[in-house]
Amino acid sequence: MTVSTRKPVIAGNWKMYKTIAEAEAFFAELAPLVRDVVRDGEHCEMVIAPPFTALSRVVQAARAANVAISAQDLHWEAQGAFTGEVSAAMLVEAGCTFTLIGHSERRQFFGETEETVNKKCRAALAAGLRPIVCVGETLAEREAGETEAVLTKQLAGGLAGLTEPQFSPIIVAYEPVWAIGTGRTATPEMAQAAHAFIRQRVAAQVSVSAADSVRILYGGSVKPDNIRGLMAQPDIDGGLVGGASLEAKSFAALVHYK
Ligand code: PGA
Repeated sequence: MTVSTRKPVIAGNWKMYKTIAEAEAFFAELAPLVRDVVRDGEHCEMVIAPPFTALSRVVQAARAANVAISAQDLHWEAQGAFTGEVSAAMLVEAGCTFTLIGHSERRQFFGETEETVNKKCRAALAAGLRPIVCVGETLAEREAGETEAVLTKQLAGGLAGLTEPQFSPIIVAYEPVWAIGTGRTATPEMAQAAHAFIRQRVAAQVSVSAADSVRILYGGSVKPDNIRGLMAQPDIDGGLVGGASLEAKSFAALVHYK
């Protein structure tokens, strides 16, 4: 691989945490803490995925802090009788520029499949939203030696049929399910091995240049005190962070990992 020019991405996934008032308070506290990141446009991209209800209310404050707003999920249809669902166009109108797709909690608890991940990717891309596509194995799968097979299946299905130009806005997040919310992070070496494997799969499935430029984020118990070792790995281009993204000070510390 050529020398990386991939800009790091530090993304926070708030899951079902924070009311609108709490989300607003977060950005008010965060803005002064990341002012230097705003000035140093080269350092990293910052993304936060609040719950749907807070999206449109925090967009301006987030933009002022140079933070892009992401949805946590979307439906693939443009509109229709799909109670409880939200379309890509609705998210764009609310001010989102990114959306998570295929988070393991969606896969575990809400029936997300490779097929729905693929439909959601296509809908997001068509609307100009940048997907952050999550993949990762469970503990049982890792212990059975199936990690690479699982990643191959998730990438082949979730990103099926995407051309190189379609693929280029996509960010991939490797999140081993056993490391999410458990305090049990993958070691930097374990994460690096999975990231390198994902990059190889993208090379095989899309193209070598797509593999070279795609940002691959690690997620699963990333904290201010372990992010540095992870970011030092050549194929880790950022973090997708749950718990440690909920406090402004902690998110700012993650962003200042260097
Ligand atoms: P965690 O969550 O950082 O709390 O482990 C990560 C995620 O689910 O994206």
